[in-house]
Amino acid sequence: MIRTMNLDFSDRNPELGALYGAHVEEICRRHDHALERAGASHAVIFSGAPKYAFLDDNTYPFRANPHFVGWAPLIRLPLSYIVYTPGEIPRLVYYQPHDYWHPVPGSPDGYWTSHFDIRIVHEVEEVASHLPESREKCILIGEVDDDYHAFGIDRINPTTAVNILHYARGSSKTGYELGCMRLAARRGALGHIAAAAAFSEGLPEFAIHQAYCEATSHADSELPYSNIIALNENGAILHYTDLEREPPADLRSFLIDAGGQVHGYASDITRTYSNGDERFSDLIAQMETLQQDVVSRVRAGVDYRDLHLHTHRLIAGVLIDSGLASGGADALLSEGVTSAFMPHGIGHLLGIQVHDVAGFMENESGATIDPPSGHPYLRLTRVLEEGMVLTIEPGLYIIDLLLDDLRGSPAESLVNWSAVDALRPFGGIRIEDNVRVRASGCENLTRDAFAELQ
Ligand code: GLY
Ligand code: MN
Ligand code: MN
Repeated sequence: MIRTMNLDFSDRNPELGALYGAHVEEICRRHDHALERAGASHAVIFSGAPKYAFLDDNTYPFRANPHFVGWAPLIRLPLSYIVYTPGEIPRLVYYQPHDYWHPVPGSPDGYWTSHFDIRIVHEVEEVASHLPESREKCILIGEVDDDYHAFGIDRINPTTAVNILHYARGSSKTGYELGCMRLAARRGALGHIAAAAAFSEGLPEFAIHQAYCEATSHADSELPYSNIIALNENGAILHYTDLEREPPADLRSFLIDAGGQVHGYASDITRTYSNGDERFSDLIAQMETLQQDVVSRVRAGVDYRDLHLHTHRLIAGVLIDSGLASGGADALLSEGVTSAFMPHGIGHLLGIQVHDVAGFMENESGATIDPPSGHPYLRLTRVLEEGMVLTIEPGLYIIDLLLDDLRGSPAESLVNWSAVDALRPFGGIRIEDNVRVRASGCENLTRDAFAELQ
């Protein structure tokens, strides 16, 4: 199966090439609209500048402006610019320094090149001659720490335009973006399969991480976010990114939250494994059923806030069935017990950014929708639309910092503290898939990728 499926992560992938032209047309349309509303004639999108560590000549890993990445699969091209004027072919000012200290970007090559008027420059000051002369008619979109990189453009990241671009980007993915994201799902799934095998061999977190990077062919700096590779109680630290070099004396559980990246588009996948303990295996199975129940409710028109609140009700059921709590679902919800066990949101939009833009946007004007009261960490509060890509990631953890807050309140008597003690050494459980919203139902990019690979 693996041999016949598309695992070409390069920018020569013909399937992506066939989808790219329509993507650029859509990006042009979004910019036409944004420019018109912003009262400007040209959009200048800056890829970004390398950032130096304090008092050092080393730079942090380069992360390109996501707006730039949305135009072209150029995630490693600092100090470059796209210049878009409605009705004209987009211009790409491609910075290729004469530099023998560092690798320099090669000659433009790949399915994207024919969609740009490419101007190669070797010095930053050469950029100026490729920008529209009337700088006052330009808007610049990008992170400008040094005025020099704005080349006299005053209107930087005007809210009107940025809101329009963000709203469109979060509301649906183009066919090309979906192609990248399906590949990113496969890339992540390759890593997860290798990591699960490394866990079953009893390897420490660091070695599991290496197995993941090897299988995905990702260097650390290319990962969409820092891998969470958590054995035993480390699984209860939501963003655990330490990597222990030694295996634990008693290996009980493994939570892995790790993604893949293709042309700047991310997958964001979590799985949890038991090392044989029956009760923990049963709890994972219950959470798996719960997660699939929530996924089955994803469709256009559903309010994601309702999905989040529904998940809390399901979590209450798992807490009762597993003996971790008692007293009925309503009490567990109202007394904050489910929030102590699942303190994060049920998911978020996904795309160029792992927590993609526009999760709170009510419309393109920038009005926002608040999360439900008592649920401040929910990052997506919108009614789902066809074409959105988002995560569904319920979790259940033993986080003493939160559970201790229940003591001395009416919630204390609802929690079975000896069951909590028994679960603590296993850390927690999260199961996370990436789904594309359809009119009725969804496409599960993650489960499809695993199915294709196994
Ligand atoms: N990996 C970060 C998240 O799941 O949101
Ligand atoms: Mn996520
Ligand atoms: Mn995740």
